[in-house]
Amino acid sequence: MYSDKVMDHFQNPRNVGEIENASGVGTVGNAKCGDIMRIYLDIDENQIIQDVKFKTFGCGAAIATSSMATELVKGKNIHEALQVTNKAVMEALDGLPPVKVHCSLLAEEAIHAALWDYAEKHGIKIEGLEKPKSDIHEGEEEESEEY
Ligand code: FES
Repeated sequence: MYSDKVMDHFQNPRNVGEIENASGVGTVGNAKCGDIMRIYLDIDENQIIQDVKFKTFGCGAAIATSSMATELVKGKNIHEALQVTNKAVMEALDGLPPVKVHCSLLAEEAIHAALWDYAEKHGIKIEGLEKPKSDIHEGEEEESEEY
């Protein structure tokens, strides 16, 4: 059901932990399953992501996608990091079962939330970054079942 890469990142997640005095911190939840993701970014004066860590109270797919997402944004600048979508993360993991696709949104949204926090702290605007949701289902119709 899961690719070898998903299993690898689930069993040996990269970049787990937290960063003290992080440049930006983002937390996003998924009210439907109750899972929560928090991402810490350490961004230098050239707007390059020097370090990234995550913590999650989440399912295996959320752990694997967050692990891969942190690997993909590390070393990138804040604009490049915005291009790391959940689709890009899933491709890097050789796919996810359809019922688990929503889990990959937690990492994407948490990275966006952390970038938003960084931008607010530094009084800058990041082109293309929208105000993050605190829950990935925010704004959806109650009965919509997209997944
Ligand atoms: Fe909640 Fe995967 S089931 S994030």
